[in-house]
Amino acid sequence: NLILVLNGPNLNLLGSREPEIYGHDTLDSIAMMLEDQAAALGLEIDLRQSNHEGHLVDWLHEAGSRQCLAVILNAGALTHSSIALHDAIKAIPVPVIEVHLSNPHARERFRHRSFISAVARGTISGFGARSYALALDAAAQLRQ
Ligand code: DQA
Repeated sequence: NLILVLNGPNLNLLGSREPEIYGHDTLDSIAMMLEDQAAALGLEIDLRQSNHEGHLVDWLHEAGSRQCLAVILNAGALTHSSIALHDAIKAIPVPVIEVHLSNPHARERFRHRSFISAVARGTISGFGARSYALALDAAAQLRQ
């Protein structure tokens, strides 16, 4: 019943980073919110962040080998560039839920392309920190 919540580049700066776009919640406060929600759902979460693409690839592989229930992935800007993350998601049997705090489609053109979406189970974006809560709810529904 383990769900990895993986966060990519610059998301360690949440709270102070462009708060008009990303809100005032920090990654720590999002982690605390998700811990409570997961406990209520009978799930376990492990939230991680890295600024390095390879760490995210390794963690996706780990989710596969540990047969996690799901991965919730905010790949940050790697969403728009990373074929390595695309391939890693394809390589594992675990459903990946793509999340974004902002709605990339309402922003610059270079954010309109996602290498994650085509291989994700689904995408939730535009609801700030709530995007993660909605994703965790969706992940809970994947239990049969
Ligand atoms: C983001 C959107 C990306 O375009 C951006 O590069 C991020 C954050 C989001 O959560 O809204 O770093 O993934």
